[in-house]
Amino acid sequence: MIKKVGVIGSGTMGSGIAQVAATAGNEVQLYDLSSEALQKSRDSLNKILDRLIEKGRIDNAEKNRIQNNITYISNLNDLADCDLTIEAIVEDLDIKKNLFKELESLLSLKAIIATNTSSLSVASIAGALTDPSRCIGIHFFNPAPLMKLVEVIPAVQTSEQTLKTTVDTIASWGKTVAVTKDTPGFIVNRVARPFYGEALRIYDEGIADVATIDWAMKTVGGFRMGPFELMDFIGNDVNYTVTESVFHAFYCDPRYKPSFTQKRLSEAGYLGRKSGRGYYNYGEGADNPEPVEDTTLAQAIVDRVLVMLINEAADALFWKIASAKDIDNAMTKGVNYPKGLLAWADEKGIDWCVSKLDGLYEEYHEDRYRCSPLLRRMQRENKTFY
Ligand code: NAI
Repeated sequence: MIKKVGVIGSGTMGSGIAQVAATAGNEVQLYDLSSEALQKSRDSLNKILDRLIEKGRIDNAEKNRIQNNITYISNLNDLADCDLTIEAIVEDLDIKKNLFKELESLLSLKAIIATNTSSLSVASIAGALTDPSRCIGIHFFNPAPLMKLVEVIPAVQTSEQTLKTTVDTIASWGKTVAVTKDTPGFIVNRVARPFYGEALRIYDEGIADVATIDWAMKTVGGFRMGPFELMDFIGNDVNYTVTESVFHAFYCDPRYKPSFTQKRLSEAGYLGRKSGRGYYNYGEGADNPEPVEDTTLAQAIVDRVLVMLINEAADALFWKIASAKDIDNAMTKGVNYPKGLLAWADEKGIDWCVSKLDGLYEEYHEDRYRCSPLLRRMQRENKTFY
């Protein structure tokens, strides 16, 4: 039974995770190296809770309860009696490993030691521990209090008991858990790659401009944000780095090949909203292009991006990265897709998926467009995902 939770790193993710655990009634110890980061986290939670009061979602007593559940600490030893610690510090393997060694020396033997890493392997971090069976990945999405999905990643060393306790705890915090294999990008950051990559490819080939692609994906595809708007929102530097890291982690599989367009924007400092300029210009009164509202073109754009997303989801299932249900939940609850991709494949028809992918492969003869063996097998056996 998890009661006391330690969160290490009080930045964007750590602050959100601490809020989630405290709201669920856990006592939380929130640690950071930097006292400014702790103060910022405390101030930002205060503002978030005040906004929730204004909206009538919580009352003053609830605000006090959540705040009183969090203790901001500057001494790592104060984590000693935690049942679970979740690390959300800088994304650097050596620094994380050193922290994990230190944690192991001060926590009880039964405590679970988790990481919120998005790009490192959980096995490599667990390798720092004498008893790696109690290490696991717990990957939240930003903003952690709002996003329903949490990916739980057992490493090869993780025990069944650690996995079970973690899944039960995170589910009891009101989150949707998707258990995933310890492979690059886990579910969401792997399966979502074509949303950006294929949109960039369509743009780079000159098939449509960014405004038209975004318009197509929203109005015809039903996505909440277009790929370019979303990249500008995430930050082109951040999004490019994730793509590049997934690409290298998959031994340069061309399916994940990054785009020079995004690299150049990132190099130029056109990072998106945060720098005032990305694919779009966010300056006051800036002139941005209007979409070409051609529904035939829009349908072709959506079909191409969608079939590449479906292929990625089917391949993740083929390689047993997660169950069909968890893959679909991950995309609807982690990145707000309008439908699960495997359910969407059923709706479009497996024949449609295979023939679209084969059409792209015929045209380009690139490995990027190879159809997942699972889709081909399902077509042969006349099967659906659900
Ligand atoms: P951040 O930069 O906002 O916060 C990191 C915090 O860790 C800072 O307050 C820093 O002072 C502190 N810190 C750095 N080294 C430390 C150490 N050795 N001991 C204690 N505190 C230390 O970073 P963010 O975005 O919150 O990311 C944290 C982790 O979560 C990373 O591993 C990242 O890959 C992962 N992640 C990030 C997501 C995002 O959207 N930002 C989403 C999911 C995971």
